[in-house]
Amino acid sequence: MEYLEIEGGKPLRGSVNISGAKNAAFPILSAALLMKGKMHIKNVPQILDVQHFLEILKEIGVYVERTDSGVILDTRGDISSKIKQSETHSLRGTQTLFGALIARNGKAFLPSLGGCNIGSRPIDLHIKGLRQLGANVDWSEGYLNGSADKLKGNSVYLDFPSVGATENLIIASVFAKGDTVIENGAREPEIRNLIDFLNKAGANIKMNGSGIIRIKGVKELSPVDFEIMPDRIEASTYLIMGAITGGDLAVNGVNVRDFEPVVMKLKEAGAIVDVKDNGSTVHISANDRLNAVDIKTLPYPGFPTDAQPQMMALLSISKGSSVITETIFENRFKAAKELRKMGADIKIENNMAFIKGVEKLQGATVEAGDLRGGAALITAGLAASGTTKLLNVFHVDRGYEHIEKKLQLLGGRVQRKTKNEI
Ligand code: EPZ
Repeated sequence: MEYLEIEGGKPLRGSVNISGAKNAAFPILSAALLMKGKMHIKNVPQILDVQHFLEILKEIGVYVERTDSGVILDTRGDISSKIKQSETHSLRGTQTLFGALIARNGKAFLPSLGGCNIGSRPIDLHIKGLRQLGANVDWSEGYLNGSADKLKGNSVYLDFPSVGATENLIIASVFAKGDTVIENGAREPEIRNLIDFLNKAGANIKMNGSGIIRIKGVKELSPVDFEIMPDRIEASTYLIMGAITGGDLAVNGVNVRDFEPVVMKLKEAGAIVDVKDNGSTVHISANDRLNAVDIKTLPYPGFPTDAQPQMMALLSISKGSSVITETIFENRFKAAKELRKMGADIKIENNMAFIKGVEKLQGATVEAGDLRGGAALITAGLAASGTTKLLNVFHVDRGYEHIEKKLQLLGGRVQRKTKNEI
């Protein structure tokens, strides 16, 4: 089992290129099934979850060729409607294959979803919405079965602006008969990226600023090349790492508008943050301990839940007391237990974390329990005194491309080792 060994206390300096967005890649690679032909999807991150997703696409009959800047797909073959159950390939990102396969083949069979264990993660909103478009959807023998001769446009209200449900309904309704309106849809930038991809291929989708998305059914789409947006959560993570180490670093190739709340909170905590090159470069510097700030996670454009654990690490050594309120997932404070092993003073009550900033964290052997919790522990290890060993680093590899290499380029003392060296 691999782990990361981190020597803390060194400010991160320099600049880091941000990879393509994991959470935009999945819906876009799923939506590619709506087109029959060859296309080059660029800026696809080389991370574990995407690798597994591409293996699933190959298994159902898509031609997949990795290029150094992305992936060439050819979707002209016979595409199977059934996604095979598999231990290694359990990821939440496959959820959008369901809507895509119903739209393309008129049927879909999806095994129960994986993904980070940060809550129950039901898919009731996906099922309810697809039924409202005329699909028959039910569980049978551990598989979600979907079928529809022809989906019919309809008005669908989402009880919660679920990112995955919004993506699934957009993809499923592209060829529906008539118009579909999604009310209270998610507005995350990844949704905009999906819509831009589909419209470039000939779909007719409009999203206004208040979560109303209108999809006019069309006959067919034509294959197009497309570039995945930069990963706003990876960018946020490196900025937080720069802040916690008292460093001086820039993230390149980003859209700062995608993660304004994180930038605002880092500024509120006392970091110096400059936006350059028309928002594609964000520079941060912080020379001493930052101030405590309160965080409340919300659907976009609120503070992103995916940057919450990393902020918890930063606030563990900020001056004063902070409160984090997590409103999206019911079990997303798992990093707190591990941070306490490093000396953090964090109390959890229901969906709130009460953090009293301490002077310094101490290096320790800690375990990643999920993707962003693992990133939070690396963040803490970079600032702690002494050595931190992060076990179960595969959780982090699911969503961060070459994380130790990027940190080494920033002066971070991070090595990847195998367990028998512990
Ligand atoms: C996506 O997950 C992201 N994953 C998550 O990123 C992200 O945290 C989340 O959106 C919120 O922004 C991918 O895109 C692969 P949701 P998703 O549906 O679609 C409840 C990361 O770290 N809900 O918006 O699963 C659900 O339980 C990952 O990169 C229902 O109740 O998120 C949760 O409490 C983690 N019923 C809330 O909505 C449903 O049918 C938000 O879930 C669907 C969701």
